[in-house]
Amino acid sequence: MTNLGVLISGRGSNLEALINASNKKEIPAKIAVVISDKSDAFGLERARKHNIEAVYINPDDFKGKDAYEQGIVKTLKKHNVNLVCLAGYMRIAGKVLIDSYKSKIINIHPSLLPAFPGLNAQKQALEHGVKISGATVHFVDEGCDTGPIIVQSAVPVLAGDTIEILSSRILAEEHKLYPLAVKYFAEGKLKIEGRRVIIQ
Ligand code: GRF
Repeated sequence: MTNLGVLISGRGSNLEALINASNKKEIPAKIAVVISDKSDAFGLERARKHNIEAVYINPDDFKGKDAYEQGIVKTLKKHNVNLVCLAGYMRIAGKVLIDSYKSKIINIHPSLLPAFPGLNAQKQALEHGVKISGATVHFVDEGCDTGPIIVQSAVPVLAGDTIEILSSRILAEEHKLYPLAVKYFAEGKLKIEGRRVIIQ
């Protein structure tokens, strides 16, 4: 059984998708702990409703990014986490986190990477005028949304789309895609070869 540590900053709908997939035994993984860098993240409430340990770790209590990530790693280790899932966590993972969980941190991003990394990916896609966008789950490296891609799902961008409409179309895909990536990881099917992730 893979123990997930889910890092969030807000709403937590992808967290909820992982919780549901775990509860329905669709993935051989359970959520061991949820950590937020924001005290008011709704995802903390979602986790607690499911009796999952949910911890707010205040960045201001630490001297700098390394110390903060050491605090996070301590909590992850305490819960025997072996896969870290970033799910709307609004910080770029640093050296401490990445070195502590080498090739064991994944992230979900609302675009077809490498297009539109960083903030407001759906807005970037609309403004660029692409006809197809989507979602990506990828391994995390020290860049911003740059790590090896595990799975992607495409959606059309339609004429009348607003940021909200496109975001919700992509989000529906995210909620299927993140559990799928976790399932592959937990089943030991993922092998990183350079930039490519082989699904065995
Ligand atoms: C999602 O769109 C995810 O792709 C991005 O941040 C958003 C988080 O949403 N990284 P939620 O908190 O999971 O509802």
